[in-house]
Amino acid sequence: VRHLLGIKDITPDDIALIFDTAANFKEVINRPIKKVPSLRDITIANIFFENSTRTRLSFELAEKRLSADVVNFSSSNSSVKKGETLLDTVNNILAMKVDMVVMRHASVGAPHFLTQHIKANVINAGDGTHEHPTQALLDGFSMLQKLGSLQGKKVAIIGDILHSRVALSNIFLLKKMGAEVMVCGPKTLLPRHIEALGVKVELEVKKALQWCDVANVLRIQLERQQIKYFPSLREYSLYYGINKKMLSELDKEIVIMHPGPINRGVELSSDVADSEHSIILEQVENGVAVRMAVLYLLAQS
Ligand code: CP
Repeated sequence: VRHLLGIKDITPDDIALIFDTAANFKEVINRPIKKVPSLRDITIANIFFENSTRTRLSFELAEKRLSADVVNFSSSNSSVKKGETLLDTVNNILAMKVDMVVMRHASVGAPHFLTQHIKANVINAGDGTHEHPTQALLDGFSMLQKLGSLQGKKVAIIGDILHSRVALSNIFLLKKMGAEVMVCGPKTLLPRHIEALGVKVELEVKKALQWCDVANVLRIQLERQQIKYFPSLREYSLYYGINKKMLSELDKEIVIMHPGPINRGVELSSDVADSEHSIILEQVENGVAVRMAVLYLLAQS
């Protein structure tokens, strides 16, 4: 495998290898000396055409922990604003002898397009509403570390499934690793025929919480809505917002996850996001180790 474009394209064995490698790197980055020389002499460009906090910083730290040389590009302060195309932008960056490209783009398939035109390894850091493979890998790895196994675990993905690349990549990964998956949200934010991916569908959040071992909670992606979808944020919060009282009414403990950024008081109340149920910051910590594993393994290809 030369590129990581989506979870759909990789096998359960690939995922297990990434998890094993990430576990080793997690030990490394918890040592006083966090750096290893594995990617010395490799140059990596992080090319972001959409905003990011976690993914961009996590990739950059992962690359630096592996001793790679790193350049960062953000379209908002670049010559894209003067009309330069995606391909010209990337070819100009590659002319500076770059070996790997990590790219986030608002258009579905943009990283796939790049692989047809450039020789560098390409990692998809999120393409529109399509896939966000390293997020799914870090989510799966975090569940594995918390629960010991993904096989047979019940994971409810709750929120704006329609516009979420995190949801799609999570569904592919969890199904490949033997978990049961449910999606839950208002009908207007669920893709038509989502059952065809082998997931259960639930419209009532309390029933989803009662069913699951893990709730992976997503925000409403207002920036991707072409038309104004029902419900409004206030209505969403009223019918789907998860709060401490709802968790206390369950007859079991569940794990709460969120890829970030959280809209506090909409999909999650602060007393849940910051509670002992939440592994949200562990997800962020694991993201660095998982991205180190992906970069290290692709560099061997
Ligand atoms: N989870 C995630 O992709 O967050 P950012 O948009 O901040 O990178």
